[in-house]
Amino acid sequence: MDAKQTSTPDQALIVGASRGIGLAWVEHMLKLSPSVQVIAAARSVSTNEALAALEQAHPGQLTRIDMDITDEESVARAVASVKDQSLGMVVNTTGVLHDSSMGVFPEKRLEDLKWSSFESLMRINAFSNVMLLAQLLPKFKKDQPTYFAALSARVGSISDNRIGGWYSYRASKAALNQIIKTASIETKRRYPQLILAALHPGTTDTDLSKPFQANVPAEKLFTPQFVAERLMSVLMGLTPEDSGGFFAWDGQSIPY
Ligand SMILES: NC(=O)c1ccc[n+]([C@@H]2O[C@H](COP(=O)([O-])OP(=O)(O)OC[C@H]3O[C@@H](n4cnc5c(N)ncnc54)[C@H](OP(=O)(O)O)[C@@H]3O)[C@@H](O)[C@H]2O)c1
Repeated sequence: MDAKQTSTPDQALIVGASRGIGLAWVEHMLKLSPSVQVIAAARSVSTNEALAALEQAHPGQLTRIDMDITDEESVARAVASVKDQSLGMVVNTTGVLHDSSMGVFPEKRLEDLKWSSFESLMRINAFSNVMLLAQLLPKFKKDQPTYFAALSARVGSISDNRIGGWYSYRASKAALNQIIKTASIETKRRYPQLILAALHPGTTDTDLSKPFQANVPAEKLFTPQFVAERLMSVLMGLTPEDSGGFFAWDGQSIPY
């Protein structure tokens, strides 16, 4: 990885921007530069109070788009509102580990497995990323390095799996990593300036990790603000040669 830092992109799309790391990423970008344009997307950002406050604090810089990343038509509508060759960065922080309304929780043992949980997590955590990328290709700037990052998780690393469990979540993040790697091979030829990356945030204090924080030492539980800042810096330190890689918040490359 080259440590060379390029300047903040003038326009970025952050998906999963309603809370957690995605919301912190939006805020971080708005604070970084008064000229950056940020598009914030998730299922109900138009009524999101935190984003409304950011819009007020940074007039003319934030656009909010309601989008369900698992619904192709919803993604197509959102993408249609973005000008061609205008995006310098796309970050998809969408991810689910547990959701009682969908009956999804991290499985401890084989007897806990359910088709419905596995299918939901594969759809939301893995495949949504390539479906989004496919629609966004014409929107990336062509004359400079541009970035597409998906939030993965170290538990998706097959070689790093030491304690087992969390079958569907691990499998969905391993699939996401494979998808990023595969798309990077194709885009290296067709979009040589596009840098694709899977990013691991470390354990971060958000709704997603809340039920699993009991045994996490305080110094290892990061704030979403710290993580957004670190990951943005890691991402912008990457070059097209790094495309397809899996990187942690501290810049370390994680083996698949
Ligand atoms: N927190 C951690 O410790 C940790 C550790 C490793 C990896 N990660 C990964 O980091 C990413 C961000 O996690 P987080 O902790 O910030 O999670 P979070 O606070 O639970 O936020 C998840 C985001 O995903 C959005 N989302 C969920 N389903 C969606 C859909 N169908 N369409 C559009 N947006 C959708 C949510 O928005 P709405 O529900 O409002 O639509 C929300 O903005 C995830 O991919 C997670 O797997 C987190």
